[in-house]
Amino acid sequence: MVIVGAQWGDEGKGKVTDLLAERADLVVRFQGGNNAGHTIVREGEVFKLHLVPSGILHPGTVCAIGNGVVIDPEILTGEIEGLKRQGVSTGNLKISANAHLIMPYHVFLDMAGEQKLGSLSIGTTRRGIGPCYADKSSRLGIRVQDLLDEKILRKKIMAAMEPKRQLLRPHAKDPALDLHAMTEEYVTYGHRLEPYIADTAHLCWDALDAGKSVLFEGAQGALLDLDHGTYPFVTSSNPIAGSACIGAGVGPRDIDEVWGITKAYSTRVGSGPFPTELDDEIGDRLRTAGGEVGTTTGRPRRCGWLDLVGLKYAVRLNGMTGLAITKLDVLSGIDPLRVCVRYRGTEGAQFEEFPYHQSVLHHAAAEYDELPGFAEDITGARSEEDLPDAAREYLRYIADFVGVPVVLIGVGPGREQVIWVGDQETPALKAA
Ligand code: IMP
Repeated sequence: MVIVGAQWGDEGKGKVTDLLAERADLVVRFQGGNNAGHTIVREGEVFKLHLVPSGILHPGTVCAIGNGVVIDPEILTGEIEGLKRQGVSTGNLKISANAHLIMPYHVFLDMAGEQKLGSLSIGTTRRGIGPCYADKSSRLGIRVQDLLDEKILRKKIMAAMEPKRQLLRPHAKDPALDLHAMTEEYVTYGHRLEPYIADTAHLCWDALDAGKSVLFEGAQGALLDLDHGTYPFVTSSNPIAGSACIGAGVGPRDIDEVWGITKAYSTRVGSGPFPTELDDEIGDRLRTAGGEVGTTTGRPRRCGWLDLVGLKYAVRLNGMTGLAITKLDVLSGIDPLRVCVRYRGTEGAQFEEFPYHQSVLHHAAAEYDELPGFAEDITGARSEEDLPDAAREYLRYIADFVGVPVVLIGVGPGREQVIWVGDQETPALKAA
């Protein structure tokens, strides 16, 4: 089963993964890096994770960081130490030997690239994600396995830095970019990560062949997809379900269910088109009530109405079988509610489908349907019957529009603040 974001990221994938991971045998993260982040609150204790799958909190679940992820070893070793300090065993963590490493120069290049773009900047998380994936494609990447051989590591770093010399000139004296110091630092990370390094694709095959349940966890969301998102305002990997095959090393037939996670409204961080963005008091209200501040960068998120045109697109791109709708409680007290059902172009053209052309999307105005709002506090609801009629109607409208059943509803930040719809909890977790 695959868990993916259906919007621009930050939909609450961490929480859903955490819930499902409890009964999964293996959780595999398949793309992205520490541009993602989620906070899990467990019995009052806060866990902040960027790279380690949230399944790590369940003692029986093996957690793998797949080959498709880009790893900043400083962040990962810090996360492992932090978990240990909090009394969480990391014995079940596995790291793909083939995953690529974020190097100090990737972070410098990310920042320099953004600066150069000026007003056209992407608004990246400045974690070096794009330059790291670029090196991977250029076959100049450094992989986790390279950490175990100092000579190879030094040679590869040298080769990777060579074509970047010009761009890195302003930082030439920065000790972080000194070849020997960098090699030494990364060898140290290698020693610390060595016990976790594994052939994670093989782990997946063994688990799948044994009929165990495997959860593939994506980061970001469909509209930030490098190929299908709002390019160039996207991340540098593919956060859609098909990418689980590549980023974990399994075939399409190994995937049964695909759950997409969406908020009951929309948010976006960074630049790029956002047709339902609200620059008014409702937008402010969503931001405050939803705590819409980035976990990774602390940036306030842009907020807006739910975009059903974008959501329907995400459903198709991912071959979604179920939709989890989070943060429904945040809409309480807003009446009426609006959902975007089509876009209108500059010359009056109507778009029922997500437009592929960047210029069309940039100028698209959202057109809405209005639905009745609800005033009740729903944070205590634990079944659909506990929800006010208007909230149920809102969910029904979404499911009908995009043609996928709602399987899970989030009504608050707590682990227990969810509604499992129908009998989804069991089938979703059945062994493959
Ligand atoms: P990058 O992934 O740091 O290169 O950033 C590219 C774009 O993706 C920017 O608009 C970021 O704000 C956005 N982005 C990356 N990761 C996340 C995430 O986990 N949640 C939301 N937006 C993200």
